[in-house]
Amino acid sequence: MHCKIAIDGPAGSGKTTVAKLIAQRLSIDYLDTGAMYRMIGLVLHNLGASAKEASLKKYLEHIKIKYDEGKFYLNGQIVGDEIRTPEAGMYASDFASHNDVREFLTQIQKEICKNRSIVAEGRDIGTVVIPDANVKIFLVASPEVRARRRYDELKNKGIDVKYEDLLEQIIERDKNDSTRDIAPLVKAGDAIEIDTSNLTVEQVVDRIIEIVKERCKL
Ligand code: DC
Repeated sequence: MHCKIAIDGPAGSGKTTVAKLIAQRLSIDYLDTGAMYRMIGLVLHNLGASAKEASLKKYLEHIKIKYDEGKFYLNGQIVGDEIRTPEAGMYASDFASHNDVREFLTQIQKEICKNRSIVAEGRDIGTVVIPDANVKIFLVASPEVRARRRYDELKNKGIDVKYEDLLEQIIERDKNDSTRDIAPLVKAGDAIEIDTSNLTVEQVVDRIIEIVKERCKL
């Protein structure tokens, strides 16, 4: 039986770290849909596109995304840490509200999630991409805790940022992501909410693995 696990939640709630560890522990694939919005946001920005344009199809038709064992290739080039900067996050958030971008990426994501066990993370995974997921988790954490995590993560990668700027960006992106008309950040009705503010990564992962074991035979 294929087991599909959807992990959603706002920026910095711990989705990426947790989803990767679960995939590792269960030896199944991992899909980071935020990375896809980041790469598309960056490419569209570099092409001079604006999220205000009525149609973005003329740009999107030249973009090919390939997924292979958790890695992404954009028009044949492997995608790396260039998508992890705060700017790429802002472009992602901006273009993610465009219907053409969502349709383009949702279709690729649905295809990736077909016929395999997978841990997929992103804001609309449980509601739009794999509404039939066996397990849906919605992670939450306070804006301060999330900004601190992003800060530590970027510092570890040698990217210089200010904590205050990250906190401001997180609050702005939350507003942007939850108030937009298209695919706003909402918890699926059947998702289990876990507040990670005072939990270690291991505690969150253990809790989710327990739920997965109840629902899937892996
Ligand atoms: O999770 P993240 O920070 O890598 O996501 C980057 C942006 O992409 C975020 O502002 C919202 C958008 N996004 C989305 O709209 N839908 C998804 N499934 C994943 C990300």
